Amino acid sequence: MNALHPHSDALKDALAPLARAKSMPSVLYTDPAIFALEREALFLKHWFFLCRTEQLPNPGDYRTFDTPGGPIILVRGQDMALRCFANYCRHRGSLLLKGQGNTGARIMCPYHAWSYFSDGRLYGCPDMADAEGFDRRENGLVPVALEEWAGFLFANFAPQKPLLDHLGDLPQRMASHRLDQMRHVWSVTLEPNCNWKLILENAMETYHTGIVHRDTVGAQTQRDIPATGDWLCMQVLSRRSIGTMNADTPPLPTIEGLDDDAREGTYFTVIHPTLQFAVAQDCLWWLNVTPISANQSRLEIGGCFPESSLSLPGFAENRRLYEHRWEAVGREDVGILEDQQKALTSVLFRPGPLSGRDDKVQQVGAWGLRQMGVTWTT
Ligand code: FES
Ligand SMILES: [Fe+2]
Repeated sequence: MNALHPHSDALKDALAPLARAKSMPSVLYTDPAIFALEREALFLKHWFFLCRTEQLPNPGDYRTFDTPGGPIILVRGQDMALRCFANYCRHRGSLLLKGQGNTGARIMCPYHAWSYFSDGRLYGCPDMADAEGFDRRENGLVPVALEEWAGFLFANFAPQKPLLDHLGDLPQRMASHRLDQMRHVWSVTLEPNCNWKLILENAMETYHTGIVHRDTVGAQTQRDIPATGDWLCMQVLSRRSIGTMNADTPPLPTIEGLDDDAREGTYFTVIHPTLQFAVAQDCLWWLNVTPISANQSRLEIGGCFPESSLSLPGFAENRRLYEHRWEAVGREDVGILEDQQKALTSVLFRPGPLSGRDDKVQQVGAWGLRQMGVTWTT
């Protein structure tokens, strides 16, 4: 039986109109059986973010990723095309590459030295003359779907639709930020002991910011931004970029030509299921969440600036203000979320009433439940 079924009354409350809604039952954050359902319905079927194209500038550059569908390789071929493959050898399954680097002209298996062109074709396979019917053309690396938008690379194990359909009107909403001009400059990776949804729910509400972040970014207000497609959006209102802390001045210049809405603040998004882009007037940062188990996640916080800012005098010092803010606020959030994860294991846990400021929290969970066939419209 579906692991969600025994919790259907609680799920009905979780999906009720916001004024009557309650938080999700705790099993959504703690139960390995529900995590397994999410893996099938969400992580293995939807686009997930890898990195930006400029992070692999040269032929042979590669990066590896541990994903809910197993290890994968992103590699730039000798023809400069980017491709994604399952990270295992077609002989007996050794891991081919680790970390990041440059493969040179070929990817060599460290076990028995089979080797592959960077476009995935098998090249060398010593001592295979005895293998009947062996055809090296049938033993190339197994591809993983890869698509790019504005320099952002997404992979998918079983695409249900093209990336642009998934993104809906996001490209239009962000058009005046010219995100194709962004350049990745910084990342930090944390390993929070909490469910992946807690990270994204937290990232979509400002109810907590005056408390958890009282010493960093402080209290904030947000407004709803309508979105079509598989993403959510709200805007934290501040005409001064919130990419640095309130006491820090001056931040980098505002992107030229921002539209009226974009000038009002920072867009916070969830690109379902596991990614947030925060898009400010002068920078972009991401929270890229990789679910590991019901109570473990990997969180990469990545930071980008417009290419035109990179050569400005003082950029080397100014970027530190942003990076410090991104990491400090990220660690504050992880601290509260790990405690929340612990509390959700209480046998006495009962879902609590949501605030009017929890609208996006509810929507983060509701999208996932819809993918798993749970819907209520009352
Ligand atoms: S597992 Fe790769 S060559 Fe044997
Ligand atoms: Fe936060």
